[in-house]
Amino acid sequence: MSFGPMPIANRFLLPEDFADEYFFELAPAFCDECTMVQLINQPAPDEMFNDDYAFFSGTSQHMTRHFQDFAELVCKRNLSGDDPFVVELGCNDGIMLQNFMAKGIRHLGVEPSGNVADVARKKGITVTSEFFSEDTAARIVEQHGHADAILAANVMCHIADISSVAAGVNVLLKDTGVLIFEDPYLGDVIKKTSYDQIYDEHVFVFSALSVSRAFEGCGLRLVDVMPQPTHGGSMRYVLAREGAQEPNAAVADLLDQERGMGLDKAGTFDQFRESCEKSRSNLMQVLNDLKAGGKRVVGYGATSKSTTVMNYCGITQDHIEFISDTTPIKQGKFTPGSHIPVKPHDAFKDNYPDYALLFAWNHKAEIMANEEAFAESGGKWINFVPDVSISS
Ligand code: TYD
Repeated sequence: MSFGPMPIANRFLLPEDFADEYFFELAPAFCDECTMVQLINQPAPDEMFNDDYAFFSGTSQHMTRHFQDFAELVCKRNLSGDDPFVVELGCNDGIMLQNFMAKGIRHLGVEPSGNVADVARKKGITVTSEFFSEDTAARIVEQHGHADAILAANVMCHIADISSVAAGVNVLLKDTGVLIFEDPYLGDVIKKTSYDQIYDEHVFVFSALSVSRAFEGCGLRLVDVMPQPTHGGSMRYVLAREGAQEPNAAVADLLDQERGMGLDKAGTFDQFRESCEKSRSNLMQVLNDLKAGGKRVVGYGATSKSTTVMNYCGITQDHIEFISDTTPIKQGKFTPGSHIPVKPHDAFKDNYPDYALLFAWNHKAEIMANEEAFAESGGKWINFVPDVSISS
């Protein structure tokens, strides 16, 4: 299926950049042989992950706690030996590794986006700024030894050359080590019609079925799975070397569930396309009606995901006055493709609109708790996941 021409989801821009804006066709496809859902076209990695990269993990309190818990569990279950070594692929601003650093555990972040890597370094985290590959892995082994745990959160699904990552993991991992990664989960995307998880960076939308197939070639076996509430529904996958650890019952259960949902059948994705089209027309009906009624609508959260929603649905500044976002690097810029201004949260708080379109729906609980005053002022929320609805 195709979501049409799409800009880079995290490339917030200034008016002088509008004319040269980069577009590509956002077209996910399902392979009925390996069950992978993946983008057919993807921009070059350095178009997406560079020193202007606008995504900082540490913008949410919930995410900070999530990574504390993640690190705690890894320490408890996977770092039993002397002087363990943890590597994180795509460590961003160090939101996960800071927990290992605080415990004095040897760690290394591999982060190609220089600006976010610098934020991690300022916290005292050890980071190398490069893309992960077999060569990088060999160099890390030379300097630090093999890793007890290789971690990645919302990173693995960004790497088109997954076999190069698998080869690197093979070089870097101890015989008893584990690869643990989590990413937005295909089961949730299908169930909730959360098509906004599909954008340039997310070259894959994984399931347990596709992950087991993708890594079996390099001798890694899926041994555990743990559903996560983050990013609107994610899955954590634990892989170990063949024969090192038996898969637990959760793996077989999830694989059965996925077959039951049809995640191994092309027809499921035809239905998904129809659900996306319905979601788009319902959302535009709401926005057009509000516009016709002269209501003020503001977007909440200039998420990467919102780039797909705005460009696929055709949302413009006619529908949305501006988008409120707490990330300083996004403020004062314009959203990719739709060119809607991004303003600091004060712009929202100081002059509440009639409606707020909840682009950051994955943080709904946190946002609702923080924005009670908006609802008390009579403000209403427009939701589009799992269904288009209005709430107060
Ligand atoms: P995120 O959840 O990481 O979504 P994506 O992966 O699609 O980019 O992004 C959340 C965005 O929302 C981020 O730009 C910060 C912003 N945000 C707010 O403006 N206010 C909030 O209260 C929260 C939780 C996030």
